[in-house]
Amino acid sequence: MATTELIDLAVETTKNAYVPYSHFPVGAVLVAKNGAVFTGVNVENASFGLTNCAERTAIFKAVSEGFVDFEELIVYGETEKPISPCGACRQVMAEFFNQDLPVTLVAKDKSTVVMTVKELLPYSFTDLT
Ligand code: THU
Repeated sequence: MATTELIDLAVETTKNAYVPYSHFPVGAVLVAKNGAVFTGVNVENASFGLTNCAERTAIFKAVSEGFVDFEELIVYGETEKPISPCGACRQVMAEFFNQDLPVTLVAKDKSTVVMTVKELLPYSFTDLT
């Protein structure tokens, strides 16, 4: 799938966001090395801290299905500038992705910024040694 198609899918995916508290839908599209595509949305809770961001939803869906090698991640939010993933999601990206994996961040006008995982979370904690 071309990046423009992946961006369109991320936008479309936001329709499934469960956002009764923030009213801020986010959509993520994660492409695995064999071409499998996983979508994710933010899923909120009345106990706000239990909210799962779109990025982590997509990553956890893929890992749960046995996929551990990934090509790229697209994240779309209705922001003026390309959306900035939260710290928790950056840490989860660092856990499962190659540090050079490209993450395409998309704004509501579909402008993009592409950053690698290590640019998003430099000097990350990745193991116990
Ligand atoms: N959110 C995401 O899903 N991904 C991001 O990159 C930023 C924030 C969600 C969490 C919450 O449901 C809403 O956006 C507002 O913070």
